[in-house]
Amino acid sequence: MNRTEESGYRSLFKQWDSRSWVRSKPRRNGAFASGLHYFSPDLCPLLAHPEVRAAPAQVREEILVHSLYVYLEFTVQLELGPVNETCLLLHSPDFCPWLPAAMKEDLLRIYTDEAAHAEMSHTLLATVRDHTGVEPVLHRPYFLQELSRLYAAELPVYRPLVKLFFSIVSETLITGSLTKLPKDPSVQQAVRELAADHATDEGLHHAYFRRLFKSLWPKMPAPLQTKIGALLPEIILAFLRPDEAAMTRTLAGYPEIFEDPARVVAETVELPRVRGSLVDNAAPTLRMLAQEGVFSDPVISAAFDKHGLRQHA
Ligand SMILES: [Fe+2]
Ligand SMILES: [Fe+2]
Repeated sequence: MNRTEESGYRSLFKQWDSRSWVRSKPRRNGAFASGLHYFSPDLCPLLAHPEVRAAPAQVREEILVHSLYVYLEFTVQLELGPVNETCLLLHSPDFCPWLPAAMKEDLLRIYTDEAAHAEMSHTLLATVRDHTGVEPVLHRPYFLQELSRLYAAELPVYRPLVKLFFSIVSETLITGSLTKLPKDPSVQQAVRELAADHATDEGLHHAYFRRLFKSLWPKMPAPLQTKIGALLPEIILAFLRPDEAAMTRTLAGYPEIFEDPARVVAETVELPRVRGSLVDNAAPTLRMLAQEGVFSDPVISAAFDKHGLRQHA
């Protein structure tokens, strides 16, 4: 264990009071302008499909509203679920007791940030629903289904670790929604500002979880590294794969236009643009794993190859 590095932790949150969204910035829930989208067409996988692009303009705009809902609901469920459950777990004196006190304290700030992201995302969703009259489709986010599946496959003793790595992956992924949405001038201001404020907070969280990973990984015995490492590609894909169930339900709302929504969705996720953006979004996490030597384990490396991720690291 590298005690020097850990005891030398300087809080990443020293300016939290003046920089955190919930501590220092207003709610992003402003007026909506006619003529602007509710989500970026470039970030909507469905709009990559020619049959969806050929749909009437009104339907395309509603599909973008649904894309916003899926993104916001993903945020609510992720922050309140695995990420904040991980903050609670790590904050316990019994779990990773080697974490410096200052790192344990910062978990309370991350927890607060995430709860606020959930509340503000939910409030924006409700405001857009009231303004547009478009009802969200009922769905259980894909990443939660995947977490349940990975959990069920493990003995209870490993489950906290699965959840911890689920959070490390989600906090170190940089998705297009966070980085590109704020820059798209065709999107409603409130949506862009919400994404920008969230991205700023997540920049710090990213640095924190990266630091945590660098300390944690070398402490894990090799067989445990192999076991958890082989799950990482599935965890990455749980976050980055488009939510096919939500997309299918969205299209099913327009039966006169989309006779076979499942076929259109199955074709959409195979499109090079959709697959390419998934791989792009995985890159920062893959780089972090490579820098810590994770891929020197042949079992882990093979698992990434199997899921089509490793060669892009
Ligand atoms: Fe967040
Ligand atoms: Fe976060």
